[in-house]
Amino acid sequence: MASHLLNNAILITGGAGFIGSNFISYFLGKYPKTNVINLDKLTYAGDIKNTAELAKNPNYTFVEGDICDTELVKNLFHEHTISGVINFAAESHVDNSISSPKQFIKTNIEGTFTLLEVARKFWNGKNYRFHHISTDEVYGSLGIDGFFTEKSSYQPNSPYSASKASSDFLVRSYHHTYGMNVVTSNCSNNYGPKQHDEKLIPTIIKSAIKGLKIPIYGNGKNVRDWLFVEDHCKGIDVIYSHGVAGETYLLGGNNEFDNLTIANKICEILDKKVPSNKGSYKNQIEFVEDRLGHDFRYAIDASKIKAELGWKSLESFQSGLEKTVDWYLKKYQSK
Ligand SMILES: NC(=O)c1ccc[n+]([C@@H]2O[C@H](COP(=O)([O-])OP(=O)(O)OC[C@H]3O[C@@H](n4cnc5c(N)ncnc54)[C@H](O)[C@@H]3O)[C@@H](O)[C@H]2O)c1
Repeated sequence: MASHLLNNAILITGGAGFIGSNFISYFLGKYPKTNVINLDKLTYAGDIKNTAELAKNPNYTFVEGDICDTELVKNLFHEHTISGVINFAAESHVDNSISSPKQFIKTNIEGTFTLLEVARKFWNGKNYRFHHISTDEVYGSLGIDGFFTEKSSYQPNSPYSASKASSDFLVRSYHHTYGMNVVTSNCSNNYGPKQHDEKLIPTIIKSAIKGLKIPIYGNGKNVRDWLFVEDHCKGIDVIYSHGVAGETYLLGGNNEFDNLTIANKICEILDKKVPSNKGSYKNQIEFVEDRLGHDFRYAIDASKIKAELGWKSLESFQSGLEKTVDWYLKKYQSK
């Protein structure tokens, strides 16, 4: 039986962040009898309001704390019968990893190690699942052609992607060395409600409606593949529940756009929804100095998860972007 169906608890780390909070809502909606423990340090990137609707759910427990804190993690395993871990907790912003890499090494590598080590000792050979959430950035940068697959070689270029790559390797080693039931998923850029303002899409929306310049790195030609966060959550559920131990799964939305196109699309949506008397929001777009070592393009071939686990992204980019813009308009206009 899949471990989430046991009447035990699942430890979700980083559940006050963007993807983790969307995932907990999705997961508890689908499996209301599961006990979820959300361990989150509430760094600048975490927001307790992201899970506000769960506060009265008796099957949901929030614990403020650090995944690097071995004693705390051990206590959680002592107090609850944890039969699954999904590790979202991470320092996640590439720009911060360029200016201050140390915390990325601490949380992303040492934190993952701490979780693996405590789980290994407590589970003691039991076939419980450890699902590690990672990124397509570990594969480095593509040219104008080609896609990342599960067989692509790791070539991380930023301290962020290098720290995520290191954690992926640790997870892999716990399967090969100790036989732990691990899966890793590497996903393309997510978009949707509850993302921190520092990331590209919220920055574009916020800058536009506040009448500020909309900053776009370099010439705006860097390409990312975008996946609506709810589609990612469904994919994580499928991998956590049915993925093969020791395997990696790539998830992407087949929505490849360069940053300038994203900015233009958002401005077009805003021009319709909240027209400005100064003309199109596109007039606020400005190119700024490029990110150091900026990867040119990421793109995902998600054939494996489609063929083996029957997942595919369902949200169209236009409708996902409209939903996203609506959510941020509500947030920024209520302030
Ligand atoms: N956002 C994306 O587009 C994307 C794409 C692919 C993969 N990922 C991966 O998905 C995961 C979640 O990303 P996100 O965008 O939701 O990130 P986020 O920055 O929005 O959230 C991270 C959460 O982790 C918490 N956290 C940070 N350090 C911690 C620590 N030491 N102990 C406990 N909690 C800690 C933060 O408080 C925050 O709530 C990350 O592992 C990231 O690498 C993100």
